[in-house]
Amino acid sequence: MMRFTVLTLFPDAFRFIEEYSVLGRAVRSGLIALETVDIRDYATDRHGTADDYQFGGGPGMVMKPEPVFAAVEATLANIPAEDRSATPVALTSPQGDILNQGTVNEFARAPGVILICGHYAGVDERIREGLITHEVSIGDYVLTGGELAAMVIIDAVSRFVPEVVGSAENVEHDSITSGLLQHPLYTRPADFRGTAVPEVLRSGNHADIERWRRRESLERTLRLRPDLLNTAPLTNSDRVFLASLGWSGTSD
Ligand code: ADE
Repeated sequence: MMRFTVLTLFPDAFRFIEEYSVLGRAVRSGLIALETVDIRDYATDRHGTADDYQFGGGPGMVMKPEPVFAAVEATLANIPAEDRSATPVALTSPQGDILNQGTVNEFARAPGVILICGHYAGVDERIREGLITHEVSIGDYVLTGGELAAMVIIDAVSRFVPEVVGSAENVEHDSITSGLLQHPLYTRPADFRGTAVPEVLRSGNHADIERWRRRESLERTLRLRPDLLNTAPLTNSDRVFLASLGWSGTSD
Protein backbone atom coordinates (compact mmCIF):
# COMPACT_ATOMS: atom_id res chain seq x y z
CA MET A 1 0.00 0.00 0.00
CA MET A 2 1.30 3.40 -0.99
CA ARG A 3 0.02 6.57 0.65
CA PHE A 4 0.10 9.91 -1.16
CA THR A 5 -0.81 13.02 0.78
CA VAL A 6 -1.20 16.08 -1.41
CA LEU A 7 -1.19 19.58 0.04
CA THR A 8 -2.93 21.79 -2.43
CA LEU A 9 -5.04 24.90 -2.91
CA PHE A 10 -7.22 22.89 -5.33
CA PRO A 11 -8.09 19.52 -3.76
CA ASP A 12 -10.89 18.90 -6.26
CA ALA A 13 -8.36 18.63 -9.08
CA PHE A 14 -7.36 15.22 -7.71
CA ARG A 15 -10.80 13.73 -8.35
CA PHE A 16 -9.39 13.01 -11.78
CA ILE A 17 -6.97 10.47 -10.29
CA GLU A 18 -9.61 8.96 -8.03
CA GLU A 19 -11.82 8.30 -11.02
CA TYR A 20 -9.38 7.70 -13.86
CA SER A 21 -9.07 4.10 -15.05
CA VAL A 22 -5.88 2.49 -13.76
CA LEU A 23 -5.30 4.79 -10.79
CA GLY A 24 -8.99 4.98 -9.93
CA ARG A 25 -9.11 1.21 -9.71
CA ALA A 26 -5.97 1.19 -7.54
CA VAL A 27 -7.51 3.76 -5.16
CA ARG A 28 -10.82 1.89 -4.95
CA SER A 29 -9.12 -1.43 -4.29
CA GLY A 30 -6.87 0.06 -1.58
CA LEU A 31 -3.53 -0.46 -3.35
CA ILE A 32 -2.89 3.26 -3.12
CA ALA A 33 -4.35 5.80 -0.73
CA LEU A 34 -4.74 9.37 -1.90
CA GLU A 35 -5.45 12.02 0.67
CA THR A 36 -5.79 15.68 -0.23
CA VAL A 37 -5.24 18.42 2.30
CA ASP A 38 -6.57 21.89 1.58
CA ILE A 39 -3.76 24.26 2.54
CA ARG A 40 -6.35 26.96 3.24
CA ASP A 41 -7.72 24.86 6.11
CA TYR A 42 -4.44 25.57 7.90
CA ALA A 43 -4.45 29.30 7.30
CA THR A 44 -4.02 31.47 10.38
CA ASP A 45 -6.93 33.76 9.50
CA ARG A 46 -10.65 33.22 8.97
CA HIS A 47 -10.39 33.88 5.24
CA GLY A 48 -8.08 30.98 4.50
CA THR A 49 -5.30 33.22 3.24
CA ALA A 50 -2.48 31.12 1.79
CA ASP A 51 -0.50 33.80 -0.08
CA ASP A 52 0.83 37.27 0.53
CA TYR A 53 2.85 40.06 -1.09
CA GLN A 54 6.61 39.72 -1.50
CA PHE A 55 8.98 41.49 0.83
CA GLY A 56 11.05 43.79 -1.32
CA GLY A 57 8.20 44.35 -3.74
CA GLY A 58 7.55 42.91 -7.14
CA PRO A 59 4.79 41.20 -9.05
CA GLY A 60 3.33 37.90 -7.99
CA MET A 61 2.21 36.54 -4.66
CA VAL A 62 4.15 34.13 -2.45
CA MET A 63 2.83 31.09 -0.59
CA LYS A 64 2.90 31.83 3.13
CA PRO A 65 4.92 29.54 5.38
CA GLU A 66 2.51 29.07 8.33
CA PRO A 67 -0.28 27.13 6.56
CA VAL A 68 2.16 24.89 4.67
CA PHE A 69 4.20 24.10 7.80
CA ALA A 70 1.03 23.41 9.80
CA ALA A 71 -0.39 21.16 7.07
CA VAL A 72 2.84 19.15 6.71
CA GLU A 73 3.23 18.83 10.48
CA ALA A 74 -0.35 17.59 10.85
CA THR A 75 0.26 15.08 8.04
CA LEU A 76 3.50 13.81 9.60
CA ALA A 77 1.81 13.49 13.00
CA ASN A 78 -0.64 11.05 11.39
CA ILE A 79 1.92 8.64 10.05
CA PRO A 80 3.77 6.06 12.19
CA ALA A 81 6.85 7.57 13.85
CA GLU A 82 9.18 4.98 12.29
CA ASP A 83 8.04 6.00 8.78
CA ARG A 84 8.44 9.76 9.17
CA SER A 85 12.09 10.20 8.26
CA ALA A 86 11.69 7.91 5.21
CA THR A 87 8.72 9.89 3.86
CA PRO A 88 9.72 12.38 1.15
CA VAL A 89 8.20 15.85 1.38
CA ALA A 90 8.29 16.98 -2.24
CA LEU A 91 7.50 20.42 -3.59
CA THR A 92 6.47 20.71 -7.23
CA SER A 93 8.05 23.71 -8.90
CA PRO A 94 9.74 24.60 -12.18
CA GLN A 95 12.98 25.10 -10.21
CA GLY A 96 13.13 21.49 -9.07
CA ASP A 97 15.21 18.58 -10.29
CA ILE A 98 13.64 17.27 -13.46
CA LEU A 99 11.67 14.13 -12.70
CA ASN A 100 13.23 10.91 -13.90
CA GLN A 101 12.81 7.21 -13.31
CA GLY A 102 15.44 7.28 -10.54
CA THR A 103 13.37 9.69 -8.45
CA VAL A 104 10.21 7.75 -9.28
CA ASN A 105 11.81 4.53 -7.99
CA GLU A 106 13.09 6.27 -4.87
CA PHE A 107 9.57 7.53 -4.07
CA ALA A 108 8.09 4.10 -4.84
CA ARG A 109 10.33 2.54 -2.18
CA ALA A 110 9.19 5.05 0.48
CA PRO A 111 6.33 4.25 2.87
CA GLY A 112 4.42 7.22 1.46
CA VAL A 113 4.98 10.56 -0.24
CA ILE A 114 3.86 14.04 0.80
CA LEU A 115 3.46 16.37 -2.17
CA ILE A 116 3.14 20.13 -1.88
CA CYS A 117 1.70 21.79 -4.97
CA GLY A 118 3.46 25.08 -5.57
CA HIS A 119 1.49 28.12 -6.72
CA TYR A 120 1.69 31.81 -7.49
CA ALA A 121 5.19 33.21 -8.00
CA GLY A 122 6.56 30.55 -5.65
CA VAL A 123 6.87 29.57 -2.01
CA ASP A 124 8.40 31.43 0.91
CA GLU A 125 12.05 30.34 1.05
CA ARG A 126 11.64 29.06 4.62
CA ILE A 127 9.38 26.30 3.25
CA ARG A 128 12.22 25.19 1.00
CA GLU A 129 14.77 25.40 3.81
CA GLY A 130 12.79 23.92 6.64
CA LEU A 131 10.30 21.48 5.25
CA ILE A 132 10.95 19.92 1.92
CA THR A 133 13.26 17.01 1.10
CA HIS A 134 12.80 17.10 -2.69
CA GLU A 135 11.90 19.79 -5.21
CA VAL A 136 10.59 18.30 -8.42
CA SER A 137 9.94 19.79 -11.86
CA ILE A 138 8.25 17.78 -14.60
CA GLY A 139 10.06 19.68 -17.35
CA ASP A 140 11.44 23.00 -18.47
CA TYR A 141 8.15 24.80 -18.97
CA VAL A 142 5.90 26.64 -16.57
CA LEU A 143 2.49 25.35 -15.49
CA THR A 144 -0.23 27.44 -13.85
CA GLY A 145 0.24 25.41 -10.68
CA GLY A 146 1.85 22.31 -9.28
CA GLU A 147 -1.28 20.08 -9.30
CA LEU A 148 -0.70 18.52 -12.71
CA ALA A 149 2.94 17.92 -11.80
CA ALA A 150 1.86 16.18 -8.57
CA MET A 151 -0.51 14.00 -10.59
CA VAL A 152 2.30 13.06 -12.95
CA ILE A 153 4.43 12.01 -9.98
CA ILE A 154 1.58 10.01 -8.43
CA ASP A 155 0.90 8.27 -11.73
CA ALA A 156 4.52 7.33 -12.37
CA VAL A 157 5.13 6.15 -8.78
CA SER A 158 1.89 4.16 -8.64
CA ARG A 159 2.98 1.99 -11.55
CA PHE A 160 5.60 0.50 -9.22
CA VAL A 161 3.15 -0.37 -6.48
CA PRO A 162 2.58 -4.13 -6.79
CA GLU A 163 -0.62 -5.03 -8.64
CA VAL A 164 -1.45 -1.50 -9.83
CA VAL A 165 -0.24 -2.33 -13.31
CA GLY A 166 -1.13 -5.73 -14.78
CA SER A 167 2.14 -7.59 -14.46
CA ALA A 168 5.44 -6.74 -12.83
CA GLU A 169 7.15 -7.76 -16.03
CA ASN A 170 5.37 -4.96 -17.90
CA VAL A 171 6.81 -2.40 -15.55
CA GLU A 172 10.33 -3.84 -15.56
CA HIS A 173 10.48 -4.04 -19.34
CA ASP A 174 9.26 -0.52 -19.89
CA SER A 175 11.14 1.86 -21.99
CA ILE A 176 13.36 3.99 -19.70
CA THR A 177 12.82 1.71 -16.67
CA SER A 178 15.24 -0.68 -18.36
CA GLY A 179 17.52 2.27 -19.08
CA LEU A 180 16.94 2.10 -22.84
CA LEU A 181 14.23 3.17 -25.26
CA GLN A 182 11.76 0.54 -26.30
CA HIS A 183 12.15 -1.61 -29.42
CA PRO A 184 9.49 -1.24 -32.16
CA LEU A 185 6.17 -2.98 -31.50
CA TYR A 186 3.86 -4.57 -34.06
CA THR A 187 0.44 -6.17 -33.96
CA ARG A 188 -1.81 -7.55 -36.68
CA PRO A 189 -2.16 -7.18 -39.61
CA ALA A 190 1.20 -8.65 -40.72
CA ASP A 191 1.04 -6.42 -43.79
CA PHE A 192 -0.43 -2.94 -43.41
CA ARG A 193 -0.69 -0.80 -46.54
CA GLY A 194 2.37 -2.44 -47.97
CA THR A 195 4.56 -2.32 -44.84
CA ALA A 196 5.27 -5.77 -43.48
CA VAL A 197 6.11 -6.73 -39.90
CA PRO A 198 9.82 -7.68 -39.68
CA GLU A 199 10.14 -11.34 -40.56
CA VAL A 200 12.11 -12.24 -37.41
CA LEU A 201 9.11 -11.41 -35.19
CA ARG A 202 7.05 -13.99 -37.07
CA SER A 203 9.79 -16.63 -37.06
CA GLY A 204 8.89 -18.13 -33.70
CA ASN A 205 12.61 -18.22 -32.81
CA HIS A 206 12.68 -16.61 -29.36
CA ALA A 207 16.44 -16.19 -29.15
CA ASP A 208 16.47 -14.40 -32.51
CA ILE A 209 13.53 -12.25 -31.44
CA GLU A 210 15.21 -11.23 -28.17
CA ARG A 211 18.44 -10.39 -29.98
CA TRP A 212 16.58 -8.32 -32.60
CA ARG A 213 14.62 -6.43 -29.91
CA ARG A 214 17.75 -5.70 -27.89
CA ARG A 215 19.58 -4.38 -30.94
CA GLU A 216 16.62 -2.23 -31.99
CA SER A 217 16.48 -0.77 -28.45
CA LEU A 218 20.19 -0.03 -28.51
CA GLU A 219 20.09 1.47 -32.00
CA ARG A 220 17.08 3.65 -31.18
CA THR A 221 18.59 4.80 -27.88
CA LEU A 222 21.86 5.71 -29.60
CA ARG A 223 19.99 7.67 -32.27
CA LEU A 224 17.41 9.46 -30.11
CA ARG A 225 18.73 9.52 -26.52
CA PRO A 226 22.45 8.76 -26.51
CA ASP A 227 22.70 10.31 -23.02
CA LEU A 228 20.82 7.28 -21.63
CA LEU A 229 23.67 4.98 -22.68
CA ASN A 230 25.90 6.55 -20.05
CA THR A 231 23.83 4.99 -17.25
CA ALA A 232 22.02 2.07 -18.92
CA PRO A 233 23.09 -1.41 -17.76
CA LEU A 234 24.94 -2.69 -20.84
CA THR A 235 26.40 -6.12 -21.48
CA ASN A 236 29.65 -6.68 -23.32
CA SER A 237 27.82 -7.74 -26.44
CA ASP A 238 25.67 -4.56 -26.20
CA ARG A 239 28.89 -2.55 -26.18
CA VAL A 240 30.31 -4.42 -29.15
CA PHE A 241 27.09 -3.84 -31.08
CA LEU A 242 26.97 -0.14 -30.17
CA ALA A 243 30.62 0.26 -31.17
CA SER A 244 29.74 -1.21 -34.58
CA LEU A 245 27.22 1.65 -34.91
CA GLY A 246 29.90 4.19 -34.17
CA TRP A 247 29.30 4.67 -30.43
CA SER A 248 32.44 5.80 -28.72
CA GLY A 249 31.54 4.71 -25.20
CA THR A 250 30.46 8.07 -23.86
CA SER A 251 27.64 10.18 -25.20
CA ASP A 252 25.85 13.39 -24.36
N1 ADE B 1 4.80 24.29 -11.38
C1 ADE B 1 4.86 25.14 -12.42
N2 ADE B 1 5.58 24.62 -13.43
C2 ADE B 1 6.01 23.39 -13.01
C3 ADE B 1 6.82 22.37 -13.58
N3 ADE B 1 7.33 22.48 -14.81
N4 ADE B 1 7.06 21.27 -12.86
C4 ADE B 1 6.55 21.15 -11.62
N5 ADE B 1 5.79 22.07 -11.02
C5 ADE B 1 5.51 23.20 -11.70
